[in-house]
Amino acid sequence: MIDVQHVRKVFQTPDGEVVALNDISLSIPTGAMVALMGPSGSGKTTLLNIIGAMDAPTSGTVTLDAVRVDTMHADERALFRKRIGFVFQRFALIATASAYENMEFALRIAGIDRAQWHTRILHALDILDMNDHAHHRPAELSGGQQQRIAVARAICIEPSILIVDEPTANLDSQRGAAVLSLFRNYAANGTTIVMSTHDPTSEKYATSICRLRAGAIEAYATAPSVQR
Ligand SMILES: Nc1ncnc2c1ncn2[C@@H]1O[C@H](COP(=O)(O)OP(=O)(O)O)[C@@H](O)[C@H]1O
Ligand SMILES: [Mg+2]
Repeated sequence: MIDVQHVRKVFQTPDGEVVALNDISLSIPTGAMVALMGPSGSGKTTLLNIIGAMDAPTSGTVTLDAVRVDTMHADERALFRKRIGFVFQRFALIATASAYENMEFALRIAGIDRAQWHTRILHALDILDMNDHAHHRPAELSGGQQQRIAVARAICIEPSILIVDEPTANLDSQRGAAVLSLFRNYAANGTTIVMSTHDPTSEKYATSICRLRAGAIEAYATAPSVQR
């Protein structure tokens, strides 16, 4: 369960304050898959970073699986993030490491027993159809392949919360649909997923849709796919 109450996020810039989020409140039940939609600059990435305990809000509360994370220090948040999987918009893969090594790194950070690494990595690569690229470095992969490695890296830690920024941006429609359907299966098995997206197909896979505009929630509703 993710609970966000009255979250405000203000960035200080040389040109003054930027209010990225203003009074955001939403509750996301365990096993939901929320599509966060809205124009560029509406606050999607900022909200994902706050929900994923990457960044603290300026004010308001963030509770993840009954733990208050907004009041934590940065190092406490880092520890808490072990249970959170991230797929960043620009992937954030380690450039000098192979796909396989990128996944090893994530498993080490998450504190997963080394005896499980190999099996978990092969399984995640298999799910993303990337087995043949395990020993490629990011620069040797296309944008879409890097995206699939970023997804494999996030799921191999078996996170309780999965945060995804624009998951299908670099994928063709078939691969995009496969990744969305994979996420939906994870959600059905109890992973809570929050993803930002511009892709209207995402609405078919999400269990609920949250529309942001200028840092505020315009609408938050159960997706048509799960309404009776
Ligand atoms: N680190 C930052 N410093 C200053 N302004 C930021 C920062 N991150 C985001 N913003 C501003 O906050 C607003 C929301 O940005 P963002 O969350 O990236 O939107 P989206 O992901 O929907 O495109 C934008 O006006 C953006 O310029
Ligand atoms: Mg963004």
